[in-house]
Amino acid sequence: MTSILVLNGPNLNLLGTRQPEIYGSVTLAMVEQACAAHAKRLGLDATCLQSNHEGALIDAIHAAKGQHQGIILNAGAYTHTSIALMDALISVEIPSVEVHLSNIHAREPFRHASYIAKVALGQICGFGPQGYLLALDALAAHLKEAGAA
Ligand code: DQA
Repeated sequence: MTSILVLNGPNLNLLGTRQPEIYGSVTLAMVEQACAAHAKRLGLDATCLQSNHEGALIDAIHAAKGQHQGIILNAGAYTHTSIALMDALISVEIPSVEVHLSNIHAREPFRHASYIAKVALGQICGFGPQGYLLALDALAAHLKEAGAA
């Protein structure tokens, strides 16, 4: 079955209690459950991982090669700083979609730049947890069109 890796970066384990006025009250466990259910509806399998460590996120992207056909990545603050995460995505050649709960373009200027966006199929931001489901829809359509799902 076509498999999607849903990868969350630093501080996203605190969803639900972290700045709820920005990120809402939904927990990461709820996001991951919703991803698994939506993936199932789309005929996909979803594996969800979260790490606060840049190297662990890079390892997870490397390990996705041959295991997952698509990656959904909310790299948290590493989005704005990590050339290494961008290089990992380029290296494995797995189509990816970047997600952010908040609209990073409406926030502080340092959040407007994304290394991930340079190599992802596209970026979804500002729709809260729904963004992950939109990303699954986008990846499902992309993989179908590419004949990979
Ligand atoms: C975030 C946006 C980032 O700027 C921030 O550092 C996060 C969360 C989001 O989902 O809106 O940790 O990726």
